[in-house]
Amino acid sequence: WILMVTARSPTNIAVIKYWGKRDETLILPINDSISVTLDPEHLCTTTTVAVSPKFEEDRMWLNKKEISLSGGRFQSCLREIRSRGTDFEDEEKGIFIKKEDWKKLHVHIDSFNNFPTAAGLASSAAGFACLVYSLAKLMNVKEDEGQLSAIARQGSGSACRSLYGGFVKWSMGNDANGSDSIAVQLATEAHWDELVIIIAVVSSRQKETSSTTGMRESVETSPLLHYRSKEVVPKRILQMEEAIRTRDFPSFAKLTCADSNQFHATCLDTSPPIFYMNDTSHRQVFCMEKWNRSEGTPQVAYTFDAGPNAVLIAKNRKVATQLLQRLLFYFPPSADTELDSYLIGDKSI
Ligand code: DP6
Repeated sequence: WILMVTARSPTNIAVIKYWGKRDETLILPINDSISVTLDPEHLCTTTTVAVSPKFEEDRMWLNKKEISLSGGRFQSCLREIRSRGTDFEDEEKGIFIKKEDWKKLHVHIDSFNNFPTAAGLASSAAGFACLVYSLAKLMNVKEDEGQLSAIARQGSGSACRSLYGGFVKWSMGNDANGSDSIAVQLATEAHWDELVIIIAVVSSRQKETSSTTGMRESVETSPLLHYRSKEVVPKRILQMEEAIRTRDFPSFAKLTCADSNQFHATCLDTSPPIFYMNDTSHRQVFCMEKWNRSEGTPQVAYTFDAGPNAVLIAKNRKVATQLLQRLLFYFPPSADTELDSYLIGDKSI
């Protein structure tokens, strides 16, 4: 016999950034973060997990290519889910699995990203969220999304926020074992559905510092990062929660842009400095700031993760249309701008 489960998880974009760990193995952050989960149309991972007594070892394929499962992060997620598996039975098919059997049975994992890996868009968030969720369903794990988010977190920090749609907060927690470092949903995708997200996909990417390495170096060398995590983010989290609750776009945009800029400032404050944004990214910031100023009130928020792709959040559909026209006029996909395309995604699951 063979048992199979398929799940789909979208990626999420942080509007208050996670940058810096206090525990690298358990992946515990030095501050809370807040994100928006995208709809699965453009940036999502689909994962099928299967278990059968015939499988002789755990194996995984990503975009049809076999990859190694030996990494500590994969192993942590597999171990945590296996240890929470419960009895399963399907009388019709004659399948009876005792909870202790999950540790002996091997799994095959087939994962697929619906966006080109070459685009360099973050895939670990959707990937680990999907892996953990599908394994949990397969092994009849009874834990809720919050507890599953603590497991996905051990695959990649930002993955814990992809277990929910809408607006999500990852609370850093206090426990040394990470049990309270979990994600919670602040609002569903329906709460603020006028927002439209446009992602500028950069084509040719310079080799850059991974998030994991970058944040380790920032924790070790940037005084600004420590000031940010203690003095700035706690206040911003409260303000952002309020802006989301009241659908206050001007505050939401101001906080989102300020937090992206401060995150990149901590990267510059790192020794040696880390440059994630490129010339086009900087010009896009300038263009959005100018537009927001000329309108007298923010129309668009921008945010950049550990790379030069701009994530732009428009106030509503009308603004999104104007935004796209502006982007295509000032930043057409070309060799000069190093842009490949624009992805449009509403926020939702
Ligand atoms: C800039 O979650 O990719 O996107 O926990 O080491 O896997 P690891 O890092 P990762 O870092 C994401 C950093 C960020 C900000 C964010 O998503 O909050």
